[in-house]
Amino acid sequence: MVKAIRIHKAGGPEELKWEDIDVPEPGEGEVRIKHTAVGLNFIDIYFRKAIYPPPGYPFIPGMEAAGVVTAVGPGLTGCKVGDRVACAGRPMGAYAEERVIPANVLVPLPDNISDELAAASLLKGMTAHILLRRVFKVEKGHRILVHAAAGGVGQILVQWAHSLGATVIGTAGSEEKIKLVKDLGADHVINYKTQDFVQEVRNITNGAGVHVVYDSVGKDTFYGSLDCLAPLGTLAVFGASSGAPEPFSISELAKRGSLSVTRPSLMDYTKTREDLLTSAGELFQMLAGGLVKVSVGNRFPLGEAQKAHEALEGRHTTGSTVLVP
Ligand SMILES: NC(=O)c1ccc[n+]([C@@H]2O[C@H](COP(=O)([O-])OP(=O)(O)OC[C@H]3O[C@@H](n4cnc5c(N)ncnc54)[C@H](OP(=O)(O)O)[C@@H]3O)[C@@H](O)[C@H]2O)c1
Repeated sequence: MVKAIRIHKAGGPEELKWEDIDVPEPGEGEVRIKHTAVGLNFIDIYFRKAIYPPPGYPFIPGMEAAGVVTAVGPGLTGCKVGDRVACAGRPMGAYAEERVIPANVLVPLPDNISDELAAASLLKGMTAHILLRRVFKVEKGHRILVHAAAGGVGQILVQWAHSLGATVIGTAGSEEKIKLVKDLGADHVINYKTQDFVQEVRNITNGAGVHVVYDSVGKDTFYGSLDCLAPLGTLAVFGASSGAPEPFSISELAKRGSLSVTRPSLMDYTKTREDLLTSAGELFQMLAGGLVKVSVGNRFPLGEAQKAHEALEGRHTTGSTVLVP
């Protein structure tokens, strides 16, 4: 028996229950892992509330963790007991002391990446990688807008885009968060709770607008994000922290100058093993080179995941949050 957080029905943080579970022996193509650090992500909230359909009840949430391989399935090669590994994405089940997982979703951890750093950065950092290098390829001279820039993904986006030579404008919801984002290298930071961010972006860019907006807030920022774009600009809506944007007419894109809107998901961009290892590898290089620093702003015992969910949903966290098994 080991301990895990399980959800038996959709609802608030109180539905996260700390329970005993059995972990089977790994089958073909699988390994058993003992988790050493688990990453908290906003997507965990969508599944808890059943905004994204859960795999069935009860289920163990969690999509990001690091740990050590304790058993390998029959005939498996390329992975052995004692290997340090991390995962980011499906299958869900990271909120557990131990789990069985397909070996082909695991990323081997280099010596210079600690378990905690991996759990704090793999999912969020690979998301930043695909957004900046594949969804819209940011180059020197681009002007970009990053919403929720003090958050887990936001902080990584700001630093990575800065290192690419972009002019980075961030938004955040408090003065404390604004200071944090400035210290990470953002050129301008807007308090989108107290300021009109569209007007501020227009002022900062002398009316030209930005080439790309990375918007994880969704409903509350969607039209404003479109209004911040220069003609031919791209809006990447990659999250819905405030809810999903309402359906919109495609003519809104023509009206503002042939804009593009995309709704990327990390899972689609890392479906093949090659894409997964490329994204993880480029992230690890940025971390090792010090160009991206991932701050663990908050730590909670895994058994107290309820408190972690309350903090993330209540907009009280900055950077990454790690659950400690
Ligand atoms: N598409 C993908 O593959 C993918 C992958 C990873 C993450 N994501 C998305 O990226 C976003 C960021 O994820 P994260 O885990 O790093 O979370 P996070 O950004 O650390 O936390 C969410 C932040 O969003 C802001 N926010 C604005 N309106 C909010 C509201 N109504 N309720 C709660 N927060 C609100 C808050 O910052 P302020 O107080 O500064 O407003 C809050 O701290 C999430 O939407 C997540 O779903 C998508």
